[in-house]
Amino acid sequence: MSEKKRKTDKAHLVVDGKTVELAVLESSMGERALELGRLKAETGCFAFDPAMANTAVCRSSITYVNGEKGILLLRGYPIEDLAERCSFVEVAYLLIHGGLPTMEQSMRFSRLLNIHSMLHEDMRSFFGNYPEGAHPMAVLSAMVVSLSSFYPELRLENTQEETDITATRLLSKLRTIAAFSYKKSVGEPYVYPSHKYSYCENFLNMMFSSPVSMYKADAYDVALMNKLLVLHADHEQNASTTVVRMVESTGANLYACISAGICALWGNLHGGANQAVIEMLEKIHRDGLTADQVIHKAKDKNSRFRLMGFGHRIYKSYDPRAKLAKKMCMAVLKKKKIQDPLVEIAMRLEERALNDPYFQDRSLYPNVDFYTGLIYRAMGFPKEMFTVLFALGRLPGWIAHWQEMRKDPEQRIMRPRQIYTGPQKTAYIPIEERR
Ligand code: CMC
Repeated sequence: MSEKKRKTDKAHLVVDGKTVELAVLESSMGERALELGRLKAETGCFAFDPAMANTAVCRSSITYVNGEKGILLLRGYPIEDLAERCSFVEVAYLLIHGGLPTMEQSMRFSRLLNIHSMLHEDMRSFFGNYPEGAHPMAVLSAMVVSLSSFYPELRLENTQEETDITATRLLSKLRTIAAFSYKKSVGEPYVYPSHKYSYCENFLNMMFSSPVSMYKADAYDVALMNKLLVLHADHEQNASTTVVRMVESTGANLYACISAGICALWGNLHGGANQAVIEMLEKIHRDGLTADQVIHKAKDKNSRFRLMGFGHRIYKSYDPRAKLAKKMCMAVLKKKKIQDPLVEIAMRLEERALNDPYFQDRSLYPNVDFYTGLIYRAMGFPKEMFTVLFALGRLPGWIAHWQEMRKDPEQRIMRPRQIYTGPQKTAYIPIEERR
């Protein structure tokens, strides 16, 4: 469908008796937005929209989410099809290049990913200088921005090929950094990437192989890893993607933008929720709390507790990624013959919440983070790595948005306004006269 601006209608706004005409823009899926670019110039007012809940900040052809119907399309393809039929590398290619790769393009992309998988050897010593217990997200973000001192920054006039190489370099190296940060946290020697493995196999090998034990990634785990990364590959203008776009708008380099995105993802309300869900379930298990007690606390407005892994700004129905994750969770437990008490608690909580008017009235359903941590746990990942895995999956989406932003002639430095609530001009008081 055409991406062109289609002004299908006009809206009228009356401010101080003056009528201003606003263009109504329509997305290729039919949502409409009022164009406010000249609002201040024409009315003297600007828009007030805390948390940007009603604000579209760009046009984008990457990802479509319909929160009412629970639809997620990446470049038009349903997430269910991509998770079932594509490798993560194919989906990364789809997001970054705009279409699914041919066999030849896929092989070239995989070859490039292998070529660029090593980290500069000087970077290895950085890992050693973090204190024991350093969170791998802190290491990940710092290492990504450090890449800019080892690898050339991209200028606007860079060719598409140079952009492709930088994007591929980042995709490949993030996986190596993620695995090294884990090895550092458990005090084991780093395992180097190898050309003989596929993207996910390489990652699992760097994570779980050690000099004292033979490790061969199981084909089931490799397929599962691919699916999990695909589930996270993009989700339009979420908080971390918006941060990547905002930092790009200042002219900062790609590594800096992604590093900032990683920091934004870390928060508990965003990607950090996958770790927070497991911590919540562990506490419920440890303290022997019932589902009723937990739901009661989540509804209590005097408590700051929220049911982690529930709710979403956009989804007002079951998050399609959560649906897939729940199925994957049940399948992996069965396959590995694991009985995890935390899974039973999660299912009881879900059932209890979905039947509760508080959650129903607010359309609060499980989101992607509710079941993914339980899958990672069954695969042997420690909970501190969960958000790192989210970042690894989200990277192609961030890169695609960064690229789109750079090429968008409508974009300028992102610089929101505010409603000032401080004092008016105040006379200076010398220190000796202050009371
Ligand atoms: N538990 C209890 N109440 C909740 C929850 C929850 N998890 N989520 C929202 N609410 C309530 C909230 O208190 C508010 O109630 P009221 O109308 O009475 O004030 C209402 O539902 C609307 O919530 P909101 O905070 O205005 O919604 P939001 O769109 O600003 O926040 C959210 C979305 C995801 C931050 C929020 O639902 C939340 O904190 N969830 C738990 C953390 C979480 O799972 N985050 C992962 C999000 S999905 C993956 C990702 O983006 O990384």
